[in-house]
Amino acid sequence: MANVFFGQIIHTKSFNEFEIFTNGFIAVDQKGKIVGVGNESVFDEWVTQHTNFKAVAVERLTKNQFLIPGFIDCHIHAPQVAQIGLGLDMPLLDWLNTYTFPLEAKYADQKFAEETYAKVVENTIRAGTTLASYFGTNHKESTLILAKEVLRQGQRALIGKVCSNQNSPDFYVETTEMTAAGTEEFVKEIQKLETDLVKPTITPRFALSCSKELMNKLGEIAHKNDLHIQSHISESLSEIDFVKSLYNTSYAEAYDNAGLLTPKTVMAHAVHLEDEEITLFGKRGTSVAHCPASNTMLSSGFCDVLRLIKNGIKVGLGTDVSGGNSMSIQDAILRALDVSHHLEFVKKQDIKGSGRLVTQDHTYQPLNYKQAIFLATLGGAEALAMGDITGNFVVGKYFDALIVDTSKYPLHNYQPSDSKAADLNLLEMVQKFIYVGDDRNISRVYVSGNQIKK
Ligand code: GUN
Ligand code: FE
Repeated sequence: MANVFFGQIIHTKSFNEFEIFTNGFIAVDQKGKIVGVGNESVFDEWVTQHTNFKAVAVERLTKNQFLIPGFIDCHIHAPQVAQIGLGLDMPLLDWLNTYTFPLEAKYADQKFAEETYAKVVENTIRAGTTLASYFGTNHKESTLILAKEVLRQGQRALIGKVCSNQNSPDFYVETTEMTAAGTEEFVKEIQKLETDLVKPTITPRFALSCSKELMNKLGEIAHKNDLHIQSHISESLSEIDFVKSLYNTSYAEAYDNAGLLTPKTVMAHAVHLEDEEITLFGKRGTSVAHCPASNTMLSSGFCDVLRLIKNGIKVGLGTDVSGGNSMSIQDAILRALDVSHHLEFVKKQDIKGSGRLVTQDHTYQPLNYKQAIFLATLGGAEALAMGDITGNFVVGKYFDALIVDTSKYPLHNYQPSDSKAADLNLLEMVQKFIYVGDDRNISRVYVSGNQIKK
């Protein structure tokens, strides 16, 4: 297909650069890549410069619709969707042992994996996720089933077979050799799929459940094949104490000493990172997946994403299902805004003699909705080291996009107003969608120019 879309378009160019086209166009070639973007007024001129481009379909969006880059979930556990909303009455380590490890162990059953993963991918697509960084389970075969399902449904994804060889229950743990060999086989199997859409990612569950030896092996495998890496860091205080006692280093150094902090590494949470750890992340070019819903649900703490961003760390959003209770990155936007506002309150309130950990800052400006949209799109792409192929509407990137329709419930046919300027109308529609809308307002989802949500 080669398509041209005309209509309202929004996207971000950086954390503080939000761009809108009230009458815009995007031209997409047969390979699903963006070949032209701009104001409709320059379209005729663009056509004269691109005589090879033959549009197969021309689509004019209605005044209730706009195009936005697809949402990017930088951290989601596909197997945990089976328990979403359950067992959120415990802090992290108890939650893992009581609910999560027994559930993940069930993915030894490939039939269960097939059924669950088909629904997971369908539902993330429905919620507008065009790119997800998925954790599978320790099981190579089931995690391959997830990869094939992602491919079948046309989503873009990084997918990791989870690795753990210690501090785990007997029924859900592997030996160092098994988990390293399983990872190498998994990487080869994904490469055999010969697709741009799905890539393998090295996935130590977290430093607590991996020995130094295993961490070193995983670092080697990642370097040898130039692979993406994902894990967890500094989520809860008791977890951090445990890791420090195992490694006798900071949490970040535990990964860094194994070569696991790279420009292609994304670490979930980073709620309690110390200044030196942030500096180390900066040096290595390592990113953070901010998972506000999970940090609240598991009582982990406030992640101050602005502190990370000010220190040059790339940040994207993660749902962290099922520590988080929603599969929607639009929900993660709202939760990130909530956390940022709550942090503002704490930073500006004086609680005398509290011995608080939060730094007082009376100048703190919380995240705004445009910055949160950046985190959900281009920020996520950059955090996953995929900002060169997706995340916004730039010539040469893939057309990974959503058509949002504000005429649908729950926005009650929200209409632009004739008395307002076109740009104000569009920004109001965006706010309505972000603050009130949901997946019913996402009428279509495109990955590489292919429509994957009808
Ligand atoms: N740390 C190690 N495993 C997990 C997990 O499954 N979820 C969360 N939120 N944190 C983890
Ligand atoms: Fe997680």
